[in-house]
Amino acid sequence: MDIININNRRYLGNKYKLLPFIKGVVERECGDVRSFFDVFAGTGAVASAFTDCRLIVNDLMRSNYITALAWFSSEHFDRVKVAEILSSFNNFNASNESNYFSENFSDTYFSKIVCQKIGYIRDSVDEYLKSGVVNRREWALIITSLFYSMDRIAATCGHYDSFIQGAELPQEIILRLPNIDYNLAEDNLILNCDANAVANTVNCDIAYLDPPYNSRQYCDAYHLLENIAIWNKPKVFGVARKMDRSNMKSEYCRTTATAQLEELVNNLKTRYILLSYNNNGKKLQVRSNAKISDDDILRILSSRGEVKIFTTDYRPFSAGKGENTGNQERLFLCVVQR
Ligand SMILES: C[S@@+](CC[C@H](N)C(=O)[O-])C[C@H]1O[C@@H](n2cnc3c(N)ncnc32)[C@H](O)[C@@H]1O
Repeated sequence: MDIININNRRYLGNKYKLLPFIKGVVERECGDVRSFFDVFAGTGAVASAFTDCRLIVNDLMRSNYITALAWFSSEHFDRVKVAEILSSFNNFNASNESNYFSENFSDTYFSKIVCQKIGYIRDSVDEYLKSGVVNRREWALIITSLFYSMDRIAATCGHYDSFIQGAELPQEIILRLPNIDYNLAEDNLILNCDANAVANTVNCDIAYLDPPYNSRQYCDAYHLLENIAIWNKPKVFGVARKMDRSNMKSEYCRTTATAQLEELVNNLKTRYILLSYNNNGKKLQVRSNAKISDDDILRILSSRGEVKIFTTDYRPFSAGKGENTGNQERLFLCVVQR
């Protein structure tokens, strides 16, 4: 069966390409690191570079929690069984299926037949969990496979703020096996919480912070994955078919971002705080402007210890025109002393 790797996905702010930079800074500056807390994990790309450590992986979004369970949970899984289930879904003819997903999303981001299949898979995998056919890790691996396959064929430019009208929609979705070829610690912890709510509950060597930079809410861009992850089949609205997301918003995308970061940094129980924050400067689109100023970042981090800044030029994944090009990506490292 074909495989997928953790980076085979489009995600705003994904740091996969920056891993050599991040790893290099940690190796040079932090010495012996045994536990790594990815506080705003997103795809989990950064955690994937520290699988030799105990991992604590957190994200506010349920869809990222599920993918983190798949990639990093310490729970054992049966690779052969998962591959067999994925194959049986690939071979299943869903043309007679009608379900929440086909009723609400046919011929938008995906064709009707693909929506019939997505809804069928999502319902079935919950049944498998309930009846004990799969454990929670296996359940997460199957949903993760579904997310990655959807990303490959969605009629979007990388997120679900809108779909491309009139695009030719693929008639098939093929699931692939997540490629997990590393040994994990036995006590990894996967969390689905507000970063500020868990900051003081975790003891670690490094807390890596990669919060959203601007007012673009991830629950808006990835509402469709979140809908499938939570799967309580909400009403959806408008052309983009979004559900109510009022209880999913991040304070890091609002004017409260600076106060949030200050509270978070004050509460972390860690030897090092490593913060990613790019300096994309002032942009024409107001929502692209960074929420936290460099002065505030330095003031907040310095309150815990000595701060060093590392920079690299980097062109991140960006879906919008004229956004985020020619960025300089920065890492702020705080050696915690107080
Ligand atoms: C810049 S992205 C992280 C990207 C990630 N480092 C990667 O490589 O994929 C920011 C992430 O923070 C999450 N997030 C936003 N507000 C949060 C909060 N208050 N607590 C935890 N996670 C949050 C978003 O869901 C998003 O996945």
